[in-house]
Amino acid sequence: MKSLIVANWKMNPQTLKEAERIFNSVRRGFKNTKRVEVVICPPFLYISSLKSSQKRKSLHGSRQVSNLKLGAQDCFFEERGSFTGEISPAQLEDLGCQYVILGHSERRRYLKETDEIINKKIKKCLEFKLNPILCIGESLEERENGQTINILQTQIKEGLREITKKEMQTVVIAYEPIWAIGSGNACSVDEAQSIGLLIKKIVAQLYGRTVFKNLRVLYGGSVDSENAANYIKEARLDGLLVGGASLKSEEFLEIIRNSGKSS
Ligand code: PGA
Repeated sequence: MKSLIVANWKMNPQTLKEAERIFNSVRRGFKNTKRVEVVICPPFLYISSLKSSQKRKSLHGSRQVSNLKLGAQDCFFEERGSFTGEISPAQLEDLGCQYVILGHSERRRYLKETDEIINKKIKKCLEFKLNPILCIGESLEERENGQTINILQTQIKEGLREITKKEMQTVVIAYEPIWAIGSGNACSVDEAQSIGLLIKKIVAQLYGRTVFKNLRVLYGGSVDSENAANYIKEARLDGLLVGGASLKSEEFLEIIRNSGKSS
């Protein structure tokens, strides 16, 4: 299985020009490899321009980089209608997005997204050709109170409520402990490995072994070019969700280079 490396740009950068500069330098530096699939998730309003610049470049003879894809950082749980300010999965599919990050802890915290809302969003994405990336993770307080397993179990069970075995083939789960996000305090490789296994076990209990075997579990939280390889090669996780480091193209390219699985 290829490693899946997802860039979460969050509410950055501040101009389209800068977004194009980062995207194009990742595109130029990225060697199309069978070992890594890369997804860039910029703010909604840059997606269309980045997609067109990718198409333009390949028309003009630059290499086609088929393993470099675009994703979104969220979407709404309805397809169309009177939902001021929202973005529909149909609109994302139309722009050529292939992945959507859902349930990121920043949205749970600042936008009060609940497991129920996240579940509705996942279901709607699955009606389109969009792979949902369900983010889960505990806060520092929950970790210190020994609640990590319970929190993850609830987020998985509620987030995936009524999702079928077949639909699960396209769902990705990202373990992002809140205390590790943007803190420089990444989760240890041993802990990430055991939580990765725990997540797969919870999913196996819900869906059986086939889904368990194909499920991709990512790690996110202060990933950089120094620690990236450890999560893939030692902890045997299936990929990474990268925030801050994905905005520095050279650093992100180094993460990609270090994240190819050897087998
Ligand atoms: P970080 O963010 O890599 O800056 O810690 C990860 C994320 O929030 O997805």
